[in-house]
Amino acid sequence: MDSMSFVLFGATGDLAKRKIFPALYNLFIDQKMPESFSIIGIGRKDFSNDEFQNQVMQSLITFSRRSLEDQKMVQEFLDSIRYQQLDITNKEGFVDLLDLVKEREQELQLPENRLFYLSVAPEFFEVIASNIKESGLGTTKGWKRLIIEKPFGRDLKTARDLNEKLSKSFKEDEIFRIDHYLGKPMVQNLEALEFANPVLQALWNNQYIANVQITASETVGVEERAGYYDKSGAIRDMFQNHMLQMLMMSAMHLTNQNTASDVRAEKKKVLESLLPLSKEEVVSHVVRGQYGSGEQNGKKVVAYRQEPGIEFSSQNDTYVAARVLIENDFWKGIPFYIRTGKRMKEKSTRIVFEFKSPIQNLAKKNSINNGPNLLVIEINPNERVSFYLNSKNVEGNIEPVQAEYFANKEDRPEAYELLVYDALRGDSKFFAHWNEVELSWQWVQPILEAFEENLVPLHTYKSGSFGPEAADELLAEDGFKWWLDT
Ligand code: BG6
Repeated sequence: MDSMSFVLFGATGDLAKRKIFPALYNLFIDQKMPESFSIIGIGRKDFSNDEFQNQVMQSLITFSRRSLEDQKMVQEFLDSIRYQQLDITNKEGFVDLLDLVKEREQELQLPENRLFYLSVAPEFFEVIASNIKESGLGTTKGWKRLIIEKPFGRDLKTARDLNEKLSKSFKEDEIFRIDHYLGKPMVQNLEALEFANPVLQALWNNQYIANVQITASETVGVEERAGYYDKSGAIRDMFQNHMLQMLMMSAMHLTNQNTASDVRAEKKKVLESLLPLSKEEVVSHVVRGQYGSGEQNGKKVVAYRQEPGIEFSSQNDTYVAARVLIENDFWKGIPFYIRTGKRMKEKSTRIVFEFKSPIQNLAKKNSINNGPNLLVIEINPNERVSFYLNSKNVEGNIEPVQAEYFANKEDRPEAYELLVYDALRGDSKFFAHWNEVELSWQWVQPILEAFEENLVPLHTYKSGSFGPEAADELLAEDGFKWWLDT
């Protein structure tokens, strides 16, 4: 791996503290950092290098996966870190930053490979990218990379504007857009499950699969993010990005170990095949909900509209369910149902493939009431693959049995660590390409408009439930039901 400088904007923020520094440290301990590297943290406040290194130390104590016992290693890691105070709208400040980056490059004899991680609010992406260019920070003899994290715009137009501006400073293959769901080990595993299992490959189509259900339910409410969330809703916060990424990862067809461009090309094909919805059609395929009061883990919780910072008249969606159709040869006619919501009964991210039951009629005649075969991929909090088969019990009755593989491991690196490692190596397989971002906004755009114009009813659902009944009806229309809601 190339030696490099890791320049982190927003270095005193929450994400840096909880995820980014611990990820870098864990990689360092696991010998997955380059041989030499410099880390430069940038923030608005004034800190000395020592003060900042102490803060990083605190975040490692609280959030790192790896032990801090080896003091020499800890010190070596901390010594690689410098801090620079910077007002990111001030161009001159970037020239000072360039001096610091160069000084460290010389001290450590680093090639001019520079990775810029923007862990800041999205409204600062453009100005930082442009100042990186203007100041000469982006003019390197080696490579340069930019890591940014969603939201990439708030609709099709703003996403395009943002991309156009970023592309003045960074080329597409230099931009690493994090969607942390793509860093989840079981989402990454979808690729392997598909190409490494001929049995699944053979069944991965509309001849054998009846429908696919992608769920990301959360128990938390809006938390302290009223300002952001009330303007985004579940549709922008989860659906346009994480949910559609899981859809692409489930529906793509791969036949072999793949490169980043193969995977991205397959994902793009999936999005290009989505049956577009007009604004008027949205109401028949999409359910919108907002949580009311209720009970969660034995505790009473308030309705969304009573949450601090939320207007009582808010029409914001905290739940979205949708029927999505993929019009290609593999999936034509097979519904993919997607749902995500806050304040639901359980935290669960999972994908369920329901298989067709060609012998169902015969089974009914024999009054055998067997359920369909299911392939269930649990992503979070469990990491598990289960196959539901039907088997005869001692009484001679058919009942479902579960063949399962648990992937949970105590010591497994989590999403950010995997993604930071990939970005360091320049592997963009599990980052969102601009094509994916653009096509997903394009598909979601009529939904945004239909919500905006209130063309879709806003159902209130009880906190601690599985969401509005209308979402059950959406599946019932096609003769299906959500699996594993108990
Ligand atoms: C984030 C959303 O992207 O994903 C949050 O902004 C949401 O609202 C979170 O809670 C869920 O992530 P995870 O990894 O807990 O499923």
